[in-house]
Amino acid sequence: MSRPSDPRARPIAVFDSGVGGLTVLHELLVRLPQEDFVYLGDTARFPYGDRSREDLERFALEIAEELLARGAKLLVVACNSATAAALPALRARMLQTTLGVDVLGVVRPEAVQAVTSTRNGRIGLLATEATVASGAYGEAVHAADPWVDLVPVACPALAPAIQAGFPADEQLVEIVRGAVAPLREAGVDTVILGCTHYPLVRPMLQRILGPGVAIVTSGAALARQVEHALGSRELANPRSGEGDYRFLCTGDPDAFRDLGTRFLQLPLGEVERVRLQAREAA
Ligand code: DGL
Repeated sequence: MSRPSDPRARPIAVFDSGVGGLTVLHELLVRLPQEDFVYLGDTARFPYGDRSREDLERFALEIAEELLARGAKLLVVACNSATAAALPALRARMLQTTLGVDVLGVVRPEAVQAVTSTRNGRIGLLATEATVASGAYGEAVHAADPWVDLVPVACPALAPAIQAGFPADEQLVEIVRGAVAPLREAGVDTVILGCTHYPLVRPMLQRILGPGVAIVTSGAALARQVEHALGSRELANPRSGEGDYRFLCTGDPDAFRDLGTRFLQLPLGEVERVRLQAREAA
């Protein structure tokens, strides 16, 4: 596939288990309007939250191959479950390629921001089972400050309920209430939203947590890190106008567009279906 000879003109690639990562792409589009983006949602294999580390590593490597073939200058893992389980394997793979493409994930920027935010040293984490089981947030928080405690809560029902539950109903409120209860009991003053879907219920979470609890989302923290990475690697696109963004998915493109508009809060346009296995076999 052809790619622009100036590496700065190449797109930033972002991937996720489905449409949830569009909440992260939204932040990137706002912070870095001059960049081009290509987003891949692995909707055929959604959800990732109950997958094993082995599965998530394999999926992430397949997707990375596809996005590198499309000329990505930077790879961003918007999915918390994929970052938590597969970032080390992805980084190791990137080191083996001759393309010199870096990969950034959502865990560390969020953990660092949460440690900066907490005043009482108790941080809560709401995330999928795969993310909690990986222990990645605990490691990142302790690397930033070993005196800070992390209280993780796995919420297996929450992402599917958010995806299905629009407009929000009482059942969704009850799931959110159940997830938040252990965090209120533990007296955390900062909560990490460790899943791409959770920013969509932020007002509900804030109301149940109370106004004194700070909420940290991955999009804003990651966008700052991406901006830094582009600057330090001299990869920032020098254009002054707006770049473009396009979408790939492994499942039904129409379903992706319908659902995705809600998560991105911007028009989506064309969505292309990709077959990752077919690429591998080719
Ligand atoms: N993107 C996924 C995550 O952040 C959403 C949930 C899922 O796929 O199970 O973990």
